[in-house]
This record gives sequence, C-alpha cells and structure tokens, in this order.
Amino acid sequence: MSLIEWKDEFKLGVPSVDHEHQELIELINSLGELMAAKGSYQVVVESLGEIYAQISGHFALEEKVMRDSHYPLYEDHKADHEILLDELLDIMDNVEDDGSYDAGALATGLDRWFSEHFGTHDAKLHHHYHR
Ligand SMILES: [Fe+2]
Repeated sequence: MSLIEWKDEFKLGVPSVDHEHQELIELINSLGELMAAKGSYQVVVESLGEIYAQISGHFALEEKVMRDSHYPLYEDHKADHEILLDELLDIMDNVEDDGSYDAGALATGLDRWFSEHFGTHDAKLHHHYHR
C-alpha cells in the first residue's frame, strides 16, 4: 500500500532536500506496507518513531536552507513544521494508547498530514527557488 506517491513537482531543486523528501516518502510507504501485511502494533509504533526522527532532521535541514537564503516566508514555514511534529506525536500517542492501529485512519491521516504541507509550504519554497 503506497501511502504517498512521489511527484516531480515536489522537487525543490535543492538536491539534499529533494533526496530527503524522497527518502521520507519511501519510509512512510514502507509503513504502509507493514500495515498492509498486518504488522503488529509494536512494529507500527517503531516505524512511526523512525519517521518522526527522520522528519525532524529533515525539517531542520529545510529550515537551514531557508535561513541561508533569507527566505521571506521562513517563520510561517517553520511554524507549520512545528505543528506537523506535534500532530505526528499525537498520531503516535493515539496508536500507543490504543495498543492497536486503524490502518485506514492512519493512512488517511499521514497522507493529509504530509501532502498538505508539501502542497502549500513546500510548494511556495519550490516557486521561490525557481523564479
Ligand atoms: Fe517544509
């Protein structure tokens, strides 16, 4: 089960950021596969933990790129990163509290969570680099 499809329009043109975006999508999709294979909830919690760790590192890189280039929408974009990380923690807490997971709800939640940021904040960043 592919949760997120890589699209070329996700490309920022900053190789390190693009590379990490692709890796993140792969990681999220491998969670989709774990769920499709009815992986235990512990395995899913572990996978979410990995996603969280990679994503916070990735956001830090994106923020550095933005700061270095004096990106005008930096504050806004960074604020959304913080919201996203909080939401991801909530998603993880829910799975942990329940001791089980709802694959459909988790897939929808993660896709919306990721795609919206990609489609808005990262897209603006993309346009900024392609002016
Ligand atoms: Fe971002």
